[in-house]
Amino acid sequence: MEIIRAAHSGFCFGVKNAVDTAYKLIRNSDGSRPIFTHGQLIHNRDVTDELASYGVRIMEDLSEVPENAILIVRSHGETEAFYREAEARGIELVDTTCPFVARIHRFVKEAHDSGTPVIIVGDASHPEVIGINGWCGDSALIVATKADVDSVFGEQSFDVKVKPTPDNPALVVCQTTLREQALIDVEAALKENGVPFTVKNTICNATKDRQQAAEALSKTVDAMVVIGGKNSSNTKKLYDICKSNCAKSFFVENIPDLPLKLLENCTKIGVAAGASTPERIIEEVITNMSETITNEAMTMEEVMDQIDTRLPHPGEIVTGEVLQVADDVVIVNLNCKKDGILSKSEVTLEDGQTLSDVFNVGDEIKAKVIKTDDNDAGIMLSKKRLAVTEHWKEINDALESGQLINVKVVREVRGGVIAAYKEITGFIPLSQLSDKYIEDDQVGEFMNQEFDVKVTKVDSKRGRAVFSRRNVLKEEKSKLLDEVWEILHENDIVEGTVKRFTNYGAFVDLGGIDGLLHISEISWGKLTRPEEVLQKDQKINVKILSMNREKGKISLGLKQTMPEPWSVIDEKYHVDDIVKGKIVQLKEYGAFVELEPGLDGLVHISEVANKHVENINDELKVGQEVNTKILDIDVDRKRISLSIKQAPGNEAPVEEAPAEEAPAVEEVPVEAPVVEEAAPEVTEAPAE
Ligand code: F3S
Repeated sequence: MEIIRAAHSGFCFGVKNAVDTAYKLIRNSDGSRPIFTHGQLIHNRDVTDELASYGVRIMEDLSEVPENAILIVRSHGETEAFYREAEARGIELVDTTCPFVARIHRFVKEAHDSGTPVIIVGDASHPEVIGINGWCGDSALIVATKADVDSVFGEQSFDVKVKPTPDNPALVVCQTTLREQALIDVEAALKENGVPFTVKNTICNATKDRQQAAEALSKTVDAMVVIGGKNSSNTKKLYDICKSNCAKSFFVENIPDLPLKLLENCTKIGVAAGASTPERIIEEVITNMSETITNEAMTMEEVMDQIDTRLPHPGEIVTGEVLQVADDVVIVNLNCKKDGILSKSEVTLEDGQTLSDVFNVGDEIKAKVIKTDDNDAGIMLSKKRLAVTEHWKEINDALESGQLINVKVVREVRGGVIAAYKEITGFIPLSQLSDKYIEDDQVGEFMNQEFDVKVTKVDSKRGRAVFSRRNVLKEEKSKLLDEVWEILHENDIVEGTVKRFTNYGAFVDLGGIDGLLHISEISWGKLTRPEEVLQKDQKINVKILSMNREKGKISLGLKQTMPEPWSVIDEKYHVDDIVKGKIVQLKEYGAFVELEPGLDGLVHISEVANKHVENINDELKVGQEVNTKILDIDVDRKRISLSIKQAPGNEAPVEEAPAEEAPAVEEVPVEAPVVEEAAPEVTEAPAE
């Protein structure tokens, strides 16, 4: 004999949560506060008897509950008025309303508040339907069948306070355990009767899947055993479905109900169980059938093994189909005897994102099994842990391939920082945080920064990884340098940025590589410090004078980007021109006047003033600006003779006696002003 258990049999997520909560309350109770449930917590006598034995009492009306009591709201949910009354009386509620039922409450409340009529498809006497109706002011029309719809509209007595119109169609919702066909029938009847409506199919997929699995199985077996409470509407529906396909279908609540005699000649028996049936009872029934009816085909262990092997193990990565999405949980069909339960806390969501934004019914998803409860629970899943597993794999791959990963610095620790890569974190030692030296008190600057790193060490078992940003920066720099070296050539004129000064010149950034602008190459004139003409961060065009890739040195010239003054002197200066200049040096025999950088002229002492000048220092000062007249330009000897006294405004009065003669200009040696400190040679300066 073969016993086959239908998928999705036993506790659903909502029931499991209610039962778990009740047992947790019992465990944590010191007995000083009574625990109540409103009606039976679930439709299973064994469970409710056991709860009663622990002192959990069932009340029918809130007035029965003392004010110090704890009252469990079961998965069916309650009316809005119930919550208000409990609150008014100060009764502590522990709410285990199934999230899929709570969602219907929200739908009908919103509809009611906006004046939309509500139609509930379901059993008007079922606590879940009563609860739903209580969230729309008990105003809903409750129908179960096509006949109900026909009878209401046939008599033209639509029993809702607001009648649906094309502008304000009714909202149709259903009891979570409704058969799909019942909804289809009611929709057809509403259409036939010309009732405008919109539908929110709130049938719980756990129910639908359970029914479909039982239906499919019941078509292939000799007998079906449906296990569940006799007052459980979903088990009753399950039984009806099986019975319609398999005449030998039996509704049993527990072992004593098993019609063993009738099952004796069956070679294939199917087992299905309602949402309120504990796993313990399902296994007891299967065990009992196996031990009593089993022939040589399969031992009990084999039967249980077969069942157990269908469950994935903790740590396993599973693929399943999303059955339902609620505010806090996603139910996943894993094609085994239990559904997967993916809690909101096990999913990474962006701020403001909900589970419905991420998951849709019918989606195929992957998750990691974190717990396979051997009793009644579903299979606890985690997307976060799946992500962690996948992310460790990615990090390992990055270590092997040398690929970069993007991380975000999340906190400072001793000796470095912790950086997050998706769901996992790794350590970046201080020395690996930058390609520059980082002081301890500078680490804070890196907080929340995102950048690429290399993975240098991974120990996924101990959850450790080490990253390096320094390696990335170094590689980037070297790549950049390669590129810069490729595009630069001697004699090119390129733009650069003045980065820093030394006493022998300035370093200029050419886009990742620094070149040296020696002080002697800055100006055609004489400089004592580069800062005299340059500023930090100033952008300048420079000429590449020489490049040495091996030594990594580039020598630059700024003055070479401008014409040498003597080469264009004819264009700018002529004898008898009046020109302005600055006195740059005083000698006994005269003053050197700079007309422009690199172009100095001499005012002989005899040309300083219209009188005899004994000491030139009595008449002129270094730095003084003077108007001069060009007396002579000797291009070959690079000499310019100037006169101050002959410049306009300085001429001698006609009647004045001629001044005592000074030595002739030609006889005076002309020297360039002396620069005190000689700069080092260009080629010796290191480029960076
Ligand atoms: Fe909830 Fe569906 Fe069960 S509505 S209580 S998970 S059958």
